[in-house]
Amino acid sequence: MSLSREQMLVEMGISPLWVLRDKAVAEPAGPDVEENTAAPPVADVRQTVAPTIQAPMPIAAVDGANWPELARQVAECKACGLCQQRKQAVLGVGDLNPDWLFIGEGPGAEEDLKGEPFVGQAGKLLDNMLAALDIARGNKVYIANAVKCRPPGNRTPEASEMAACRPYLERQIALLKPKVIVLLGKAAVHTILHDDKSLSALRGQPFEYAGIPVVVTYHPAYLLRNLPEKAKAWEDLLLARKVLRQQAAPELPL
Ligand code: URA
Repeated sequence: MSLSREQMLVEMGISPLWVLRDKAVAEPAGPDVEENTAAPPVADVRQTVAPTIQAPMPIAAVDGANWPELARQVAECKACGLCQQRKQAVLGVGDLNPDWLFIGEGPGAEEDLKGEPFVGQAGKLLDNMLAALDIARGNKVYIANAVKCRPPGNRTPEASEMAACRPYLERQIALLKPKVIVLLGKAAVHTILHDDKSLSALRGQPFEYAGIPVVVTYHPAYLLRNLPEKAKAWEDLLLARKVLRQQAAPELPL
């Protein structure tokens, strides 16, 4: 279903109207912990299988890896315990020569099944956020996650799991060379900025990672439960767009 730009803005919360297009599907619980508004995790039958405790394994050198090599390493990764219950690792999706890189938390149930990030309800909102900016997944946009494997029950990934996965994300960023990075939620902020402050304290100002401007905003799953925050997320996206445009025209004010 294609929406007009006005409808996109409505979806982004620029109008008070909010209508879900599809029947509500339980969202991954992880990102909802942002700003202490956690909902209980969605029950996951696979959680009943006691995971074997696995010490983080050093991952093979990814520094010089090209895309096929990186994809192979991620698909075969056993660097942390998340590999034990995944259906598949989810590397990322999109344009390999992007302006924009969006980084979320980790795959949920649908992403684990399909092998693509943000394909559930949060993904629909993310797609509408992109459309409101006149961009789309796959066209100058790449989407990745802080961890590549689904945390059981869609819990927030542990710091050790994010640390184990970080080299893959770092290599993705080095290969993609995006012009702006948008961090969706606390896990992405933790991984890229090594900062655990609240999102409300971090949003509204650009940061930098490896010389690339970085903008912090709320995770779409959080926005689905906290509709008034969507206007703030829209402001954050506009800041990211300004930062991006400023690279082509440095005289533009932020
Ligand atoms: N939430 C995320 O953070 N990433 C996904 O891929 C899906 C939901």
